[in-house]
Amino acid sequence: MKTILALETSCDETGVAILRRRNGDSTSELLASEVASQIAAHSKYGGVVPEVASRNHLVYAPSLLERATRSANIGLSKVDAFAATSGPGLASSLMIGTSIAKGLAIGFGKPYLAINHLEGHLLSPFFAGTDCGDVQIRPNVSLIVSGGHTTLIQVQRLGDYKLIGRTVDDAAGEAFDKVAKLLGLGYPGGPQIEKRAKSGDRNRFDLPRSMLDSENFSFSGLKTAVRYLLPKIANGLSQTPGEERRLGQTPHELDERLLADLCASFQQAIVDVLVRKTIEAARKYGVDLVTISGGVSCNQELRKQLSEACVREGFEVKCAEPWLCTDNAAMIAFAALMRYRAGFESKVTEEIDPNLALAI
Ligand code: KG4
Ligand code: ZN
Repeated sequence: MKTILALETSCDETGVAILRRRNGDSTSELLASEVASQIAAHSKYGGVVPEVASRNHLVYAPSLLERATRSANIGLSKVDAFAATSGPGLASSLMIGTSIAKGLAIGFGKPYLAINHLEGHLLSPFFAGTDCGDVQIRPNVSLIVSGGHTTLIQVQRLGDYKLIGRTVDDAAGEAFDKVAKLLGLGYPGGPQIEKRAKSGDRNRFDLPRSMLDSENFSFSGLKTAVRYLLPKIANGLSQTPGEERRLGQTPHELDERLLADLCASFQQAIVDVLVRKTIEAARKYGVDLVTISGGVSCNQELRKQLSEACVREGFEVKCAEPWLCTDNAAMIAFAALMRYRAGFESKVTEEIDPNLALAI
């Protein structure tokens, strides 16, 4: 029996999970997965404040550890290896989770595994429910699309990853968050925009799809296009630059119809680019499997349109389950268990790396 305890503290979610795999059994069992969201603490700032995030991790982590071991009904001494996200992410937040995992590993004389947050997302589509099976990571093209990352990776097998493309400016989730802020919607912006987009007309506004001839992404032009569109479509308001800024801060002056149409048009511009580049990459790299993960992959329209495109092209598609899309420790425990089984182990002297790369 192998039991892994993992912590995730790379950004604004504190997560602790315990995953167990029985010897000779082909399945693993998620014994506990606790997540404390800090959305409320950051929403008034319209984004994550690193200092606030790390203080909250320090407050939440001990009680989540206790809750996780209680609901898993397991003592810490029975854990076989301790893991934590060691990058990429906010330095002061990464420090909290890795320090706790290292301390536990040293204290109980067990191995420590430093896990790349992006590998947690990348492998999460293979984590099927609470019973994650005897998974083989088949070659695939993987789209990781979150608040910090928009990355296409060619996956050969566990640990063998090649970068296809990534954003040269804003990540897709960041664009959702920034446009939601412009529209006066709450943080995080993705779910807010998705909610309004449901009743909107996606063809109402013609917004840019950037860098279509590249394998990289760019979303800041789209955000700027929305920024400049706002004063033109808001009723009876001046279009001078000063008024424009004021408008960006008082977007509720858009009526509900316009807001819904703008959200739908913006969301469609992002979905179009993500789907098109992912399908092109899958064709080019000759895989028959496409995977998608990360916070933005919660978006129902993205999941639907990517799945439809994959069916048309004859590719299988695996989407991370919605509860695994936003940051959590279950995906880190899963990556750690796979790595542990494959013989990986980290040194407790290994430092965090806020810019840790997954693939080059
Ligand atoms: O993976 P995640 O929890 O954190 C990072 O690793 O960055 O992703 C958070 C991001 C936020 O930008 C949020 O707005 C976006 O995921 N997001 C969504 C949706 N749910 C969360 N974007 C679009 N549609 C959604 N339903
Ligand atoms: Zn993430």
